[in-house]
Amino acid sequence: MRQSCPVPTDSPPDPVAQLAWLRGPEGTAAVRLAAQLQHDGLDLLPGIARLRAGVGPERAGPAWELARLRARARPVFGDDADVLLLTADTLEQAGRPELATRRAIRLLAAGASSVADLGCAAGTDTIALARAGASVVAVDRDPVARELTAANAEALGLAPWVRVLAADVVDLVAAAADGRVAGCDAAVLDPARRAGGRRQLDPDRWSPPWSTVTALLDRVPVTVVKVAPGLDHERVPNGIEAEWVSVGGSIVEALLWGRGVSTTWRRATLVRDGAVHEVSADDDPGPAPVGPVRGWLHEPDPGLIRSGLMSLVAADATLVDPTIAYLTSDGPAESPWLSSYRVTDVLPFNLRKLKALLRARGVGRVVVKKRGSPIEPETLARQLRGPGNDSAVVVVTRVAGAPTVLVCDPLPGRLSP
Ligand SMILES: C[S@@+](CC[C@H](N)C(=O)[O-])C[C@H]1O[C@@H](n2cnc3c(N)ncnc32)[C@H](O)[C@@H]1O
Repeated sequence: MRQSCPVPTDSPPDPVAQLAWLRGPEGTAAVRLAAQLQHDGLDLLPGIARLRAGVGPERAGPAWELARLRARARPVFGDDADVLLLTADTLEQAGRPELATRRAIRLLAAGASSVADLGCAAGTDTIALARAGASVVAVDRDPVARELTAANAEALGLAPWVRVLAADVVDLVAAAADGRVAGCDAAVLDPARRAGGRRQLDPDRWSPPWSTVTALLDRVPVTVVKVAPGLDHERVPNGIEAEWVSVGGSIVEALLWGRGVSTTWRRATLVRDGAVHEVSADDDPGPAPVGPVRGWLHEPDPGLIRSGLMSLVAADATLVDPTIAYLTSDGPAESPWLSSYRVTDVLPFNLRKLKALLRARGVGRVVVKKRGSPIEPETLARQLRGPGNDSAVVVVTRVAGAPTVLVCDPLPGRLSP
């Protein structure tokens, strides 16, 4: 989700009281009016002015903001978005509900009936767990998060299955025993990985930190932890399954499954066009062999690359370079994990020669892809624009250590700007 631009408000009210007002009848009516004004195309300032007349200056901004956040949440949260109470921060942190449901179902299939959502934010996981049939203890140290989760559980008719608890997850995990935490037999932990608007790359600086992640995995076997997709494999404890999930060509989450749920060493999951594809391995399969560039180049899904399972999806394919995640083979790949491009030319990286080649081919528009090269794809694509009517995919990479360009035909429908 993108960062929001702030909406002007006339006073800094208590955020929890403000949320309580937004949930009440006056707030509900104000948000409905704001949504209508936004739907009618009114801009921020005239929209706020109209709202002020109805609800007063200090309420207009929050109502406008919530209507805007719900509209932004709608494509991901569907009809739920119309009743969810959200803040810009919690919407930014929220995972995808369909993936939260998938995680919830897997935890319950491992025998859990009560689950602690450790760091509930706006309650995406709490809602998915309760809908899947769990009784949930939703924990957060932030009072705004607790108010949001309580409100959202109630708005969706799930309040009887949700208890909201003010606590520090570090303390709860330190006290976990007999496979249980916060009185529950399973847990979801989604540490905050941003601070001060910046991504925290060091897991020791997540909140709660890495030490709490490993302690939870050790103490509560039926557990799932959301981690950064770039997490170093070396950090994954023995016996813990690590899974990378990608949707639409991007990794959307990386998960560590506790020992009571783990069934493999690494898993890559791809959700595309409503279908779920999985590749897994019980041991490290090692890298694909390296070989010369052949007639076709394959770009693997990023979750497949991160999981280290690339060598499993194309038996006859080889890497173009030991350090680069491009595969090559004699034919197109029949695999949802790979996008295939027919290679027409392979040449050392040289802008002048590349331009001349594309002109000679009548190529006027290119999509540039790169791996292992410092070039800026958009800049190079502009530099390569020409009068020709044809298009091509230009891949700038390293082949056997040397900066190389592969000119490829795009497969029909695969050329995206
Ligand atoms: C990334 S968000 C969780 C997002 C949520 N799973 C979702 O999909 O909407 C992390 C949450 O953990 C809470 N948190 C961070 N450290 C905590 C701690 N030590 N104790 C309790 N809550 C904590 C934050 O306040 C925040 O609400």
